[in-house]
Amino acid sequence: MLKPEFTAGKTDWFVHDRFGLFIHWGIYATAARHEWVKNYEKITEEKYQKYFNHFDPDLYDPDAWAKAAKHAGMKYAVLTTKHHDGFCLWDSKLTDYKATNTPAGRDLLKPFVEAFRKQGIKIGFYHSLIDWHHPEFPVDFNHPQKDDEEFKKKETNRDIKRYAEYLHGQVRELMTEFGKTDILWFDFSYSREQNGMKGKGKEDWQSEKLLKMIRELMPDIIINNRLEITQDIHTPEQFQPREWVHVDGKPVVWEACQTLNGSWGYHRDSSGNFGDNYLVWKTSEMLIKMLIDTVSKGGNMILNVGPTARGQFEPKALERLRDIGEWMKLHSRSIYGATQSEFKPPQDCKFTQNGNRLYLHIFSWPFKHIHLDNMADKVEYAQLLNDGSEIKIQGHDLKGEHSSLSEKIDSKILTLELPIQKPDVVVPVIELFLK
Ligand code: GLC
Repeated sequence: MLKPEFTAGKTDWFVHDRFGLFIHWGIYATAARHEWVKNYEKITEEKYQKYFNHFDPDLYDPDAWAKAAKHAGMKYAVLTTKHHDGFCLWDSKLTDYKATNTPAGRDLLKPFVEAFRKQGIKIGFYHSLIDWHHPEFPVDFNHPQKDDEEFKKKETNRDIKRYAEYLHGQVRELMTEFGKTDILWFDFSYSREQNGMKGKGKEDWQSEKLLKMIRELMPDIIINNRLEITQDIHTPEQFQPREWVHVDGKPVVWEACQTLNGSWGYHRDSSGNFGDNYLVWKTSEMLIKMLIDTVSKGGNMILNVGPTARGQFEPKALERLRDIGEWMKLHSRSIYGATQSEFKPPQDCKFTQNGNRLYLHIFSWPFKHIHLDNMADKVEYAQLLNDGSEIKIQGHDLKGEHSSLSEKIDSKILTLELPIQKPDVVVPVIELFLK
């Protein structure tokens, strides 16, 4: 089995738990057309203020969020404390641009922490390095006013060092006011040059100094790789890596970040296009297969929900979390504690493995048999995971109906006898007990 190199953050529990919930929530939910709406529509600070003034999540019930996540089999949850628009969910002492000053009138982060802890779900904070609200955040090619020459001329004296002080101060608040936090998920560095403007990276964030502070306050915390200094987890997003993610030729701890519909923040209109994305809801079957595919390559999957401006998970999101939960109820032991197997799966199947248990996830149900190469003498017993029913291991000659011919099966192949009827689950799994 591939084993990633040791890193500072404690990733044992993370690699075991495999499946998390991402939550993107803020005043952009009031605009209801993606969390980058301020950038996509070049909205000025003044015009964006209406979303702050009307953010009133009167139906916010983090216990309901936590129960939905628990049912789905999610073991950790990462909530946006501040996104690129600079709006803060918690009662930060360093800014007025926070939930406490909106019609919400209260800190929205603490209730999230308490509700998810109550369900035994580990806590993660997403924190945007980018801040399009802060007066010292220099305009760059990602800024909503990047094409506003007048604005840029007026704002040439912005001091990134002042902004970095604010950034570090808020991270200190997050690391000292909410008890034990398990994951800190920064987003994102872009230190290249574009359209004649410099991006921002580890020097601008003072990432080295920031990491030192975090590790002093919360030594075991898992930190992602977007401070432009590799830490504990690598985070490919909105695609499925072809294989186990490697960095400099070595396997790393990695987490695929996926959305339900292409947008991280709540997006109401299904026809909506944004950036180079489009809004298409993935089916529950696709999401379950993505989770299996990720674990079969030694990775984690964090799946995002963008709550509405009233504080609810929308029905289409709840439906998918419920479906995933139904499947996980019967099959979670092929996910938790499992990882990539050295065995090669047959066509239309994925293997995950946990010690001497090998899990065969069957993406398309074949007629009567599945043949596993080079496994003839390796399996002691096989069963369907959904109902624990035996799956017979076939001898080495396969008899067809009305035919005297019997196809001699290569003796190295293990042939499993399947019921004609596909089990009534989204993705059937056969649990193989290895000798
Ligand atoms: C990208 C998006 C950002 C989102 C993040 C989640 O960085 O720009 O809006 O929060 O992905 O991984």
